[in-house]
Order: sequence, then structure tokens, then C-alpha cells
Amino acid sequence: METNRRLWLKKIGIGVAGIGLTNFNSFASPLVSENLINSFENDNNLIFLRSNENPYGPSPLARKSFVENADISNRYNWDIGTELISDLAKKNSVKEENILLGAGSTEILDLVAKLVSLEKGNYVIAEPSYDYWTVTLDNLGLTKNKVALTTDKKINLQAMLEAVNQDTKLIYICNPNNPTGTICEREALVEFIIKISQNTIVLIDEAYLEFTKQQSISNIVNDHKNIIITKTFSKIYGLAGARIGYAIANKTIIDNLSNLQSNTNNSVSVLSKLAAIATLKDDKFVSNCYLLNENVKQYTISELKKLNCECISSNTNFIYFSLAKYNKDYFKQLDINNIQGGRIYEEQGKWTRITVGKMEEMKKFIKAIE
Ligand SMILES: Cc1ncc(COP(=O)(O)O)c(C=O)c1O
Repeated sequence: METNRRLWLKKIGIGVAGIGLTNFNSFASPLVSENLINSFENDNNLIFLRSNENPYGPSPLARKSFVENADISNRYNWDIGTELISDLAKKNSVKEENILLGAGSTEILDLVAKLVSLEKGNYVIAEPSYDYWTVTLDNLGLTKNKVALTTDKKINLQAMLEAVNQDTKLIYICNPNNPTGTICEREALVEFIIKISQNTIVLIDEAYLEFTKQQSISNIVNDHKNIIITKTFSKIYGLAGARIGYAIANKTIIDNLSNLQSNTNNSVSVLSKLAAIATLKDDKFVSNCYLLNENVKQYTISELKKLNCECISSNTNFIYFSLAKYNKDYFKQLDINNIQGGRIYEEQGKWTRITVGKMEEMKKFIKAIE
């Protein structure tokens, strides 16, 4: 039992000494059920290549922050949100009034869905794209207007433009796109946004932009009223479980979104806010993750190609590839090797997605499907 607890704490990145508690039993035993501990133990052999998390995170500074700040989590500490907003405003070259915090960018996407669904109409989205959150739009009565990708799996901006009509309430662009990993060229994207945002809200999801060299479009929100950018700490920053993301938009939109969030900026816990503040100072961690991801991604792509799998060039920490010429039961191979991968996104061509994990994980992945 004692070994189990140690392993569990080790897995979540907290050593006993790191916590500085003399009575370890009093910390762990009444709070953590044995079932939960056992499920972590069993998960030890699983390889998670499904959700595009950062396999190296949280950053050392974020881990330190979680441990050192545990003592202040008995208080609401609302002010800490203000500090994070100020850091995010500086980082994105906008004002503090242009930022709204959410429990992951999912909460922000949900608020946007609620805002644009106040009136009936439709929304325009590429197919396939990141659409888990659009269930809120569907349930609130907006009609989905899907736009096919180009043959090289890029978002087709011209076709998106043509899909817009007078009832369109929202256009969603995931840049880079999930699941394909493709990116819109920045100049073309800015031109598209400026043109289309005259009459319709444009939502740009930059969840994976830090895996590229492309600059965020955050600096255009002040001059253009209908643009919302969502960003997250769940991907390169390694804080998926801490649930922290944010919106960047002009003041009117931020105010409208805030009106739909009952405790504005405070759905995020104080520990997560402090971890985010710490992570923003950890440039070294972020650049290391970028380089590691690039290296492991190139290895994985070259191995997938040897297995006759066509791969789309990826600007993210995942790879979109075709199983059309792969001659084994891919999902069975994953299953028997305890690997969680992505589903089929496009039946035609059998396109699937795999997250780029650590090198040893990707070697196991390749061995499993060879
Ligand atoms: C494109 C994209 N946007 C948003 C999210 C939501 O991330 P989170 O709610 O963890 O910030 C994800 C998660 O996978 C994603 O892939």
C-alpha cells in the first residue's frame, strides 16, 4: 500500500520530500481511495497518444508552484487572476480588458457557443476539424455548415468564405487544424479574418500555435471588433489537467462573454493560475518541448512512411496519416500493445491521428504496428 502511494505521487510528479510533510500517511490515506490508486497503477503500462497532451510537462517551475502554493488554496485569492491576466496581456501585446480566463479553452469555446446562439442561424466549420465543443452550438439550435478541406488537408479559406451567408453567426478556424496538423498561411488568414469579421464573429483556435514559428494574430483584436482567439495551457505548456485557457478579443466581446460566466475569470483554481504564471516564465521548458516534439515527430513520420502510411506534414504535436495502404488491423495492434491512439476521422483514405509522445513511446508505437 505504501509503495502504491509513493508510485502514485511519483506519477503525478510529487515526491514526499518535495511536499515537505513529515507525516506522509496523514496526507494520503484518508483522501485517496485504493481503487483510484490501483487504477493509476494499472495505467502505468498504457501509452497515451490520443489527446495531444505534452508528455514532458508540467514544467519544473509549474510543479514547484503547485507544491509551494498548496498552503494558500484554502482562500479564494481572486487577485491572482488579475496577475495572470496582466502577464497574458503583455505576452499577447493586448490590454488586460482583452483577456478572459476559462477552465481550459473548452470553457471559453462553450461561452462563445452560448453567445453566438442567442440568435438563430448557422456556423461554418471545416471538416474534419476540432468539433467536440460544437455540440453546444448544435444543442442551442445553430445549424452546422461543414466545409471540406483542400486535397492536401488544409482549411479551404475561399470555400469557407463562400459558405458564409446572412444567417452565419460564427466561423471557426482551428489554426493549426486538429486533426490534420495543417496551418493557414498567416497573411492569407489575416486577410480572410478582416474581410469576414465585418459581419460575423470569427473564432480562431490557437491551441497548437506554439508548436509552430507562426506569430499569433492576437494583435489584430483591437482594430477589428468580431474576432475571438482562444488559447490554452493544455498543450505545449503541459497543464491539461490543471484546466486553464483564455480568450483574447476586443473589450465588447470580452464583456459579453463575461456576462455568461457566473464568476468571471474564477472558474480556474488558484493553484492552476499560479502554475500558469510560473510556466510563462519557463521559456527553456517550452523551447525544449518544441525541439523534442520536432525530433520525435520527424522520426515517427519517417517510420510511418516505411509502413506505407501517407503522412500530412504536421505543424503540431500530432500526425495525421492514412491507413489505406496499411495491411494489418491497426486498432487491434494498438489495443494489444496498450496504446491509446486516435479514431478514424475520414473513412475515405482511412485517415487517423496519433499524438507525438516521447521517443521511447513512439518506438513502442512503431514496433506495435510494424
Ligand atoms: C484545437 C483544440 N482546441 C481546444 C482544445 C481544448 O483544450 P483545453 O480545454 O484543454 O484547453 C483542444 C483539446 O484537445 C484542441 O485540440
